[in-house]
Amino acid sequence: MCYFLLLLLAAQTLLTTVRCDSSSALRDNSPECICYTVDSEADKSYFSYHRFYDFRKYAKSSNENTTAPPLVDANQRFGQERISDQAVLNSSNWNNDWGVQDWGKKSSADAPVAMQNSPQNVYIGQDNTTNLTHLTLRTTRLPTFQSTSELENQQKNLLHATLRFRARVRGASGAVAGLFTFYDDNNESDIEILTRDPPTTYRYTNQPATKKGDDVPSASKSPENLPAWDEWHTHRIDWLPRMSRWYIDDKFIVQNSYGVPRKPSGLILNMWSDGGVWSGDMKVGESAEMQIQWVQVVFNTSGKRDGPGGKKGGKTKRSLQEKGCSTVCRVDGVEKEGFPEVAYVAPNSSGAVNAAMGLWAVILVVGIVSMVVAL
Ligand SMILES: *[C@@H]1O[C@H](CO)[C@@H](O)[C@H](O)[C@H]1NC(C)=O
Ligand SMILES: *[C@@H]1O[C@H](CO)[C@@H](O)[C@H](O)[C@H]1NC(C)=O
Ligand SMILES: *[C@@H]1O[C@H](CO)[C@@H](O)[C@H](O)[C@H]1NC(C)=O
Ligand SMILES: *[C@@H]1O[C@H](CO)[C@@H](O)[C@H](O)[C@H]1NC(C)=O
Ligand SMILES: *[C@@H]1O[C@H](CO)[C@@H](O)[C@H](O)[C@H]1NC(C)=O
Ligand SMILES: *[C@@H]1O[C@H](CO)[C@@H](O)[C@H](O)[C@H]1NC(C)=O
Repeated sequence: MCYFLLLLLAAQTLLTTVRCDSSSALRDNSPECICYTVDSEADKSYFSYHRFYDFRKYAKSSNENTTAPPLVDANQRFGQERISDQAVLNSSNWNNDWGVQDWGKKSSADAPVAMQNSPQNVYIGQDNTTNLTHLTLRTTRLPTFQSTSELENQQKNLLHATLRFRARVRGASGAVAGLFTFYDDNNESDIEILTRDPPTTYRYTNQPATKKGDDVPSASKSPENLPAWDEWHTHRIDWLPRMSRWYIDDKFIVQNSYGVPRKPSGLILNMWSDGGVWSGDMKVGESAEMQIQWVQVVFNTSGKRDGPGGKKGGKTKRSLQEKGCSTVCRVDGVEKEGFPEVAYVAPNSSGAVNAAMGLWAVILVVGIVSMVVAL
């Protein structure tokens, strides 16, 4: 009898391992979805994973999170400040998915103002008209350096994705709000908002935008007369094989087949300035911020979670059902943003279920046989 129970236990463990691999956690808000379909102009693209990070609901009432942490001061030059909201932005859930940066960089000829990322510039703020909260990334100019902020997603093995950010940017001229994929300076696809630009101008670039000091005109697009970035809009990059496309509020803006990244990449958000020609030079004492209500990542992966050459996390395992995409979900045009809905179920999708049932049957038979033998 005990033998039988042990066998059942082993079978249970086996099935649990198959089902609860890391890939299911990568389909949040949509456990029934096996893959996701996205229309990127004429390309119908499919992705295996979906994440939705929603920063809107931290406050229960008005004015709870409207007070920002103090500005970094002239003596805080090493990025050693702590996050003001430890419970949320330094929790294990948070740290599993995001890394708040504290690196710095000295000034140089092209970047005359030194930069220092500080965790104190990353915090939850609240919109006092809607009462919704948001994640804030802040930058402030001090006499001898620029205090900046940067956030990295820990999933550094994205290989093709559609990334959406509900955000707005406010504050002084001389800052860059960046929302981008990054492997290295030669594999990077950007949305950049320059606070020195009119609020209706955007910068979309597949880096590098300069080679040996010369501009590479085909790398960048600077569309104008668009919805203003100082109000809430959804900014989107579609990173597909051989094509990058940018959207605002689901309206296609521009595409670029030049310099499309080819390496598995991470996702970075930042708010910075280095006094150079691109960012401009912020006046001492001034600040600017990017506020983010949510981030949505629909993606495929390649290699380890912590990126090429990485060790952590292992290659995302494929569960039984993933061999084909039995349940296809859409992320656009859904009732509730961030909650994909089933678009269609493939006719042969019972195959995976049958396989699982078959496995159960085998285990049951083996169990009964072993019980009989034991008796
Ligand atoms: C994502 O991966 C799936 C499964 O391998 C593949 O069918 C699909 O074409 C990939 N999508 C993109 C945009 O690369
Ligand atoms: C929001 O404000 C409340 C009340 O001050 C505080 O307890 C909470 O930690 C804040 N939440 C965040 C996410 O900052
Ligand atoms: C996060 O929490 C750890 C453990 O309490 C602490 O040592 C660290 O300073 C915190 N990090 C930040 C940036 O606040
Ligand atoms: C809302 O916040 C803005 C900016 O901080 C401030 O100027 C304004 O007075 C606030 N309004 C209310 C109703 O609190
Ligand atoms: C925000 O909260 C205030 C105070 O509770 C309330 O008067 C106001 O109607 C709320 N605004 C929205 C858009 O819910
Ligand atoms: C991406 O990185 C690889 C390896 O470093 C490099 O060969 C390639 O030129 C980079 N850029 C693109 C767009 O592929």
